[in-house]
Amino acid sequence: MRQLIAGNWKMNGLRHTADAILDPLLAGLALDHGLACDLLVCPPATLLAWAAGRLQGSAVLLGGQDCSAGKEGAQTGDISAGMLRDAGAGWVILGHSERRAGHGETDGVVLAKVRAAVAEGLVAIVCVGETEEQRQSGQASAVVQSQLLGSLPADFDGVVAYEPVWAIGTGRTPTEEDVAAMHAHIRATLVSHLGQAGQTMRILYGGSVKPSNATALLALAEVGGALVGGASLDARDFLAIARAARQLPQNAAGARTPA
Ligand code: PGA
Repeated sequence: MRQLIAGNWKMNGLRHTADAILDPLLAGLALDHGLACDLLVCPPATLLAWAAGRLQGSAVLLGGQDCSAGKEGAQTGDISAGMLRDAGAGWVILGHSERRAGHGETDGVVLAKVRAAVAEGLVAIVCVGETEEQRQSGQASAVVQSQLLGSLPADFDGVVAYEPVWAIGTGRTPTEEDVAAMHAHIRATLVSHLGQAGQTMRILYGGSVKPSNATALLALAEVGGALVGGASLDARDFLAIARAARQLPQNAAGARTPA
């Protein structure tokens, strides 16, 4: 299995500004003759159909940033998983901390969305992560475990992203030891919750990933890739992060543990 490098554009991008991301990204990939990782971009929903056209024939995967738990009907402004698929997406980010905090998404809401996404054949990337206060009071492991148990259906077979809330968009990252310890904890939780599927499931790290820290973060044991926000809006930075990715061992995302 390869590491997954996923770009979360958040609420950024118009067709003419998105060209400035996708054109150099595709040109860089052509120069590289492919990449050693799986590469995913998640633009806003308004750009999905357009991006699907631009990415056609390339290896770049396409995803949405959220979907409704509902299939269709009277939910003004919402977008269903089926609509994402219809627009060309194969993936969807769910339970991002900006949705959990800003839109009142509980674990139960995220769980319902994951079920809706999976029912439409989308691969869900489910985000978990503690706030700064929770880390400082020693609750980080318990918070993340409870988010995993509450957000993932027992037959989940997608991807998990660990994103400490305090590291998102701040330029701050946990120490390598802390990332490795949390990923090991997530792995153990996934194995006990999901069995076999939990053993090889990719666990992404997210929160201020940039070219200068990507190599060290992606080399850590149990890090199966990265979820990249700000740096995914710059094709050169995003490509530099993707070039730092590595092949994962067959049985687990093992690699070096920090010295
Ligand atoms: P960031 O965002 O890379 O800008 O910190 C990560 C995310 O929110 O997914």
